[in-house]
Parts: sequence; structure tokens; C-alpha cells
Amino acid sequence: MLAGSFEGGIALRAAAALQRAAPLGAATPVDHAAALARRHDQGQAPRFGTLVDAVAEISSTPMTSIVTAEGLSKTFQVKVRDPGLRGAVRALFRPRYRDVLAVRDVTFRIEPGEIVAFLGPNGAGKTTTLKMLAGLLYPTGGRVEAAGFVPWTGGPPFKRRITLVLGNRQQLVWDLPPEETFRLNRAIYDIPEVDYRARLAELVTLLELGDVLQKPVRQLSLGERMKCELVASLLHHPPLLFLDEPTLGLDVTAQEAIRRFLIEYRDRYGATVLLTSHYMQDVTALASRVLMINRGRLLYDGALDVLVARIARPKRIELVLGGGGGDGHRVTAEALAAFGAVKSFHFPNAVLEVRREDAPATSARLLAAFPVADLSIEDPPIEEVIRLAFARGVEEDQ
Ligand SMILES: Nc1ncnc2c1ncn2[C@@H]1O[C@H](COP(=O)(O)OP(=O)(O)O)[C@@H](O)[C@H]1O
Ligand SMILES: [Mg+2]
Repeated sequence: MLAGSFEGGIALRAAAALQRAAPLGAATPVDHAAALARRHDQGQAPRFGTLVDAVAEISSTPMTSIVTAEGLSKTFQVKVRDPGLRGAVRALFRPRYRDVLAVRDVTFRIEPGEIVAFLGPNGAGKTTTLKMLAGLLYPTGGRVEAAGFVPWTGGPPFKRRITLVLGNRQQLVWDLPPEETFRLNRAIYDIPEVDYRARLAELVTLLELGDVLQKPVRQLSLGERMKCELVASLLHHPPLLFLDEPTLGLDVTAQEAIRRFLIEYRDRYGATVLLTSHYMQDVTALASRVLMINRGRLLYDGALDVLVARIARPKRIELVLGGGGGDGHRVTAEALAAFGAVKSFHFPNAVLEVRREDAPATSARLLAAFPVADLSIEDPPIEEVIRLAFARGVEEDQ
């Protein structure tokens, strides 16, 4: 029987704390984590006192990252087909192949309890990387460890420690209520009935799911379906979550509910989350760290605001003109253009873009020149910054 992964979560968090306190550079933690995991799987871990045990064990063998990718690469061989019948026949008898370098030499580590976001345009290699970390695809090169295992050799013990949610795929059965899928997963993961009930109740509450468990899936809204997908994927309490576009196509309310849930789940269980999303709000609300990937290459690994400061050379000065007396009406776009690039001007609002280092001085000059009711200095919208980063590459800005 599988011991509650509750303890697993605590052990990992304790490990993370110790890891932070311990000097870096200690190697061979993976075997240790696997040993810990195996112990849990064999039900040898005592239900109480696990934390103490874990600390005792870990202090003798410090544990490191929960995810390690080193020089990770994936090349797909894609059949090339010339147009027309001749092309089809030729492809059948003398196929030619082209290499698609989906992931190229990507290296990063993730520590337990982190929420990390993968950023990148379509086709950047995000899903391919997540699938390799989850053991669904073999890499063509490099090394991966996740939750203490080499993913594709980890077997059931590995699968109990991770979950992979693909926003564009569904495990729920269309014509059945979600609870049928939950029960199936309960059986697959061998979750004791009491744990199942407690976890289901907790997940339903945290996800603000309401009364949908008995309805057939096809009657649920997209948001309710995604929430149920998350329930199905988390009933076994994995400490490591790979989420590929978990908020894809959802309305703002459902997106926010899922964000709140992920933060709460991480805080409760010390879970580690690696997610991709097209919504920058997801990234800014959730992730302390971003991995930016484009054409299979890792361009940036670090804090989002550092990336923004590096890319966003300009600052935006947002003005609300006024000050009474109707003076403001004399302000023209031409007059404003002397201070910076006018991004928009609809009296009384104006937005100027200036060089980052000029922002304070230009603001002072604007205040002296015009009747200004309000002035603020902002970074450009994050979407724009990211677009710029992809267009130019990050390195050239360093
Ligand atoms: N099974 C596959 N066969 C061939 N090419 C693939 C396969 N899966 C992904 N690719 C290609 O690999 C690249 C990266 O894809 P993907 O990882 O899905 O990107 P992302 O998730 O960042 O949008 C793309 O060029 C895509 O067309
Ligand atoms: Mg993808």
C-alpha cells in the first residue's frame, strides 16, 4: 500500500529547507531521494515522525534539486513529402527525413517548492521538454532526473510522484461524471478509501468546484472540466506537477481560481510546479522564476522582473493632463513628442516612451511644462517585453 504522499510532501519541504541551509555542491542526492520514495512506496515509512526521520536521513546525505535537466535535447525525424502524387509515391518508397531540433542542449534545475514558468512562442519546445521530464518521450541527448528518478526507468514509483496535465488533452470521460474517472485513478494509484475521500473533499473545496461531480463531463463548462482534470491528476498527491497550458481558453474567473489553487496547493504540500502558459497574468501571479525557451534553446533562466529590466530599455510615462483652467487643451501630440515617443494621446491621457535612464529627468520636465494631474512611470506591458525578447534574443541585451 502506498503511504500517504502527504509525508512525501513534508519530507521534500524539509529537504528543501535543509538544502538551502547546506553548502552547495553535494552530489548523489538522487539515489537518496529514490530510496526515500521507495520506502514510502513499500509502506515502510511510519505515518508519524516521518519529518524527523527525513531530516535525520537528509542531514547525512543532503538532497538537491527535484528536477535536473542537463544538456537535454530532442530531435524529431519528420518525413518530408513533396507535393502531388509523385511526392506521395516517392515518400512511400524512398522516404526522406528532415530533423526537427525541438529541444537543444537545455540545462536547468528546479528546487522543491518552486513554481517555475516556461515561456516561449508556439513550437519553442516547451511541451516536448515537459514530456521528457514526465517520461513520455525519450531525449535524443542529455540527462534528466525528476522527483529522484530517471523518468523513463522510474516505473510506478516515479509515476506516483509526478503528474502531467496537458491543457489540450482530457482524461475525463465525456459521457460519464468526473467522479468515475476519479474512482478509476483511485484504483490505479491504490489510494486508500479514507485518503481518497479526504483528498477529493479538499480539492473540491480548494478549486471552488461546487456541485458538478455527478454531472456528465459533457455538461460541464470548460473551466469546470479543467478543474476536474486537476482533481483527477492530483488525487495521488504528487509532489511534482508538470502543467502544460492549464488555463488554456478559460475565462478570467476560472483562470484566477486555478491560480489561487496552485499557490494554496504548493503552500500546503510543498509541491513543485513547472507550468507553461500563454497568459502573462499566470506567470506574474504564480512564478518566482521563468525559463524562456525559443527554437529549442534556453534563452533565459531567472526572475521575471530581472528579465523585464534587461529587455525593457524604455520606460513608459503615463500622464493625466489637467490642472483646471482648460490649459490642458493646449497640450498637443507635437508638444509631447519633444519629450519622448508618444504611444497614445487621448486628452486627458497620454503615454510617452522614454529611455529607462531618462525617465526621472523627463518626468520632471513634463511636470514643469504641462498642467499634470497625475504621472506614473511604468514598464511596458509584459506581453510586449516578452515579444521583444523572442524577436531579438535575450543575450544581445546583456
Ligand atoms: N511528435 C512530433 N513529431 C515531430 N515533430 C514534433 C513532434 N512534437 C513536436 N514537434 C515539433 O517540435 C517543436 C517543438 O514543439 P513543442 O514542444 O510542442 O512546442 P511548444 O510546446 O513550445 O509549442 C515544433 O517544431 C513541433 O512541430
Ligand atoms: Mg506546447
